[in-house]
Amino acid sequence: MKKLFYILLLVFIMLLRAEAQNPGWIVPDDQKGKICLVKFTPDMVKQGEALYMKNCQSCHGIPTKKNFAAIQPSPGDLSEPKAGTQKDGELFYRITTGKVPMPEFRNILSEDERWSVISFLRTFHKGYVQPDPEKMAASMGKRIRLSMTYDTARKKIMVKAVELTKEGPVAAKGAEIIVFVQRYFGNMQLADPKPTSESGYAGFDWPQDFPGDKTGKVILGARVNDPTGSMQEAIVRDTLAIGLPTNKPALTDTRAMWSTREKAPVWMILTYTLAVIIVWYFIIYIILSVLDMRKIKQVKNT
Ligand code: HEC
Repeated sequence: MKKLFYILLLVFIMLLRAEAQNPGWIVPDDQKGKICLVKFTPDMVKQGEALYMKNCQSCHGIPTKKNFAAIQPSPGDLSEPKAGTQKDGELFYRITTGKVPMPEFRNILSEDERWSVISFLRTFHKGYVQPDPEKMAASMGKRIRLSMTYDTARKKIMVKAVELTKEGPVAAKGAEIIVFVQRYFGNMQLADPKPTSESGYAGFDWPQDFPGDKTGKVILGARVNDPTGSMQEAIVRDTLAIGLPTNKPALTDTRAMWSTREKAPVWMILTYTLAVIIVWYFIIYIILSVLDMRKIKQVKNT
C-alpha cells in the first residue's frame, strides 16, 4: 500500500512538471489568426507529406489509419476533426511550441516547412477552405522580409527591410529593427532599436572588440520590433566572421560558469543534492523491500 502511494506520488510529480512546461497548451489570441502567406500548392503538400513522415509519423501515425502511438497524452490521428476544426494559426502554434512529449519544432522545421506540413494535413480535413492570403494580408498587417549584410568600410551591420505588397517588394521605411547576437543562453540585444530609412535600411555600429568564436564568427539576428505580431515574425539570422577570434572556454574548463563547485550558485547545489538524496532514497527503499520479500519467503519455506 505504502509503495503504491510513493509510485503515485512520483507519477503525480512528473505530470505536474510536464504541465508546468506548457500549461494547457493554450494558443494566445494573437496567434490564432496567423495564416500561411501563400496559397497551398500540390508541391507544398508533397513536401509536407515527406516532412510529416520523417518528423511526426512516429507518434501520430499515418493520417486516417488511426495507428498513432499508444502513449499518454494520446497524440491522436491528425486527420480527425479534433485537429481538423482548429484554425491554421492554432495548428501552427502547436507545432511550433510542442508539448511534452511532443517536441517543439521551432528550430527543427522552418516556418515554410511547418506550413507545408499543415498543407498536407489539410488534405484530410473535409470542408476546410484556406483563408485567402491576399485578403488576410491587409488585415493582418505588413509582410516584411529582412536581410542582413556587413558593411566593412563603415563597420556597420546593415539590415534591409522589404515590404511584400501586391505590386511586388518595395523598401519598407520606418520599420523598427532590433539586432541581436546569439549567446549560450539566449539572445543579447546589440543596441537600441532603430527605424529603417527611406530606402529601407537601418545601420548598426559593430563594436570592433566584440568576441566571436575561434575563427571570429558570431551568430547575428535581426527582427522587426513588433509586440503585436502583426508583422508576421519578420526575422533573419546569419553567421558572420566579424568578431574578435576568441578561444572560448569549454563548459568543462575551470573558467566557465558553474563548472567548478566554487562557482556554482547555491540553488543549484541544493537542488542537485536534494535530487541525489531522493534518488538514493528510492534505490535503498527498493533494495530493502526486495530483502523483505526474501525474508518472508524464507519464513514460509521453513
Ligand atoms: C514524440 C511524439 C510526437 C511527435 C514526434 C509529434 N507529436 Fe504532435 N502530439 C504528440 C502528443 C502526445 C500530442 C497530444 C498532446 C496533448 O494533447 O497534451 C500531440 C498533439 C499534436 C497536435 C494537437 C492535436 C490536437 O488534437 O489538438 C498537433 C496539431 C500536432 N501534435 C502536430 C504534430 C506535427 C505536425 C508533428 C510533426 C512535425 C508532430 N505533432 C510530432 C506527440 C508527438
